[in-house]
Amino acid sequence: MVTDDSGGETVVRLDGVRKEYGGTTALDGVSLRIRAGEAVAVMGPSGCGKSTLLNMISGLDRPTDGTVVVHGEDVGKLSEKGLALYRRRRIGMIFQFFNLVDDLTALDNVALAAQLTGSPARQARRRALELFEELGIADRRNAYPAVLSGGERQRVAVARALMNRPALLLADEPTGALDSRAGEQVMDLLLDLNQIGQTLILVTHDEHLARRCASRLVLLADGRVAGEHTLEPSA
Ligand SMILES: Nc1ncnc2c1ncn2[C@@H]1O[C@H](COP(=O)(O)OP(=O)(O)O)[C@@H](O)[C@H]1O
Ligand SMILES: [Mg+2]
Repeated sequence: MVTDDSGGETVVRLDGVRKEYGGTTALDGVSLRIRAGEAVAVMGPSGCGKSTLLNMISGLDRPTDGTVVVHGEDVGKLSEKGLALYRRRRIGMIFQFFNLVDDLTALDNVALAAQLTGSPARQARRRALELFEELGIADRRNAYPAVLSGGERQRVAVARALMNRPALLLADEPTGALDSRAGEQVMDLLLDLNQIGQTLILVTHDEHLARRCASRLVLLADGRVAGEHTLEPSA
């Protein structure tokens, strides 16, 4: 772990990260530091590289050039097996379309995340139930995703992302498929998590929600950081 000059622990450090897909440059030299406990919102037009940036940090994909260091680990240098472990143990991810398994109950969707890291099923279900209680969805634990509302599905996805107590929670347009009320509830949940110390990187199109939840805004344009702003806490 590195301590930066402002005194906080650096959890994420990107230096000169480039990512090319065939002839497309998705990221064009991105350098970024994120400290423990920060909530950082990433905004920018469609196609500017926001999801690619999260994929570099989560180890879903590797940079063409530059380095990504998370919690002291050089993500680009991990083996395939090391990457899989890193993703399961260090990172929680939330997506626009929830990505739940349709033929598992809500609780089993969440417990599965711990079972994949080797936790016994009973222990996984106990931890999942605790999270359902914390997130206010305990009464929906035996429901299948198809009968849940969008907001409930996203809460289940948040519970799944938190199962393994990730160092870093990444959310890629988590309110993009929700109506504004459900979107605000999910944002409030992310805000609560950040207030108890969860480091969070949030991609969103909604500046109002970004301001509600994040303490710093990173603007991307054409694969580069085009600006960074500190956000005032919203009332
Ligand atoms: N797997 C991929 N294969 C080819 N091109 C990709 C891939 N992922 C992203 N891109 C391209 O990289 C650029 C950035 O995409 P993305 O990171 O998804 O942007 P955003 O999330 O900001 O909308 C776009 O031009 C997109 O078409
Ligand atoms: Mg995207």
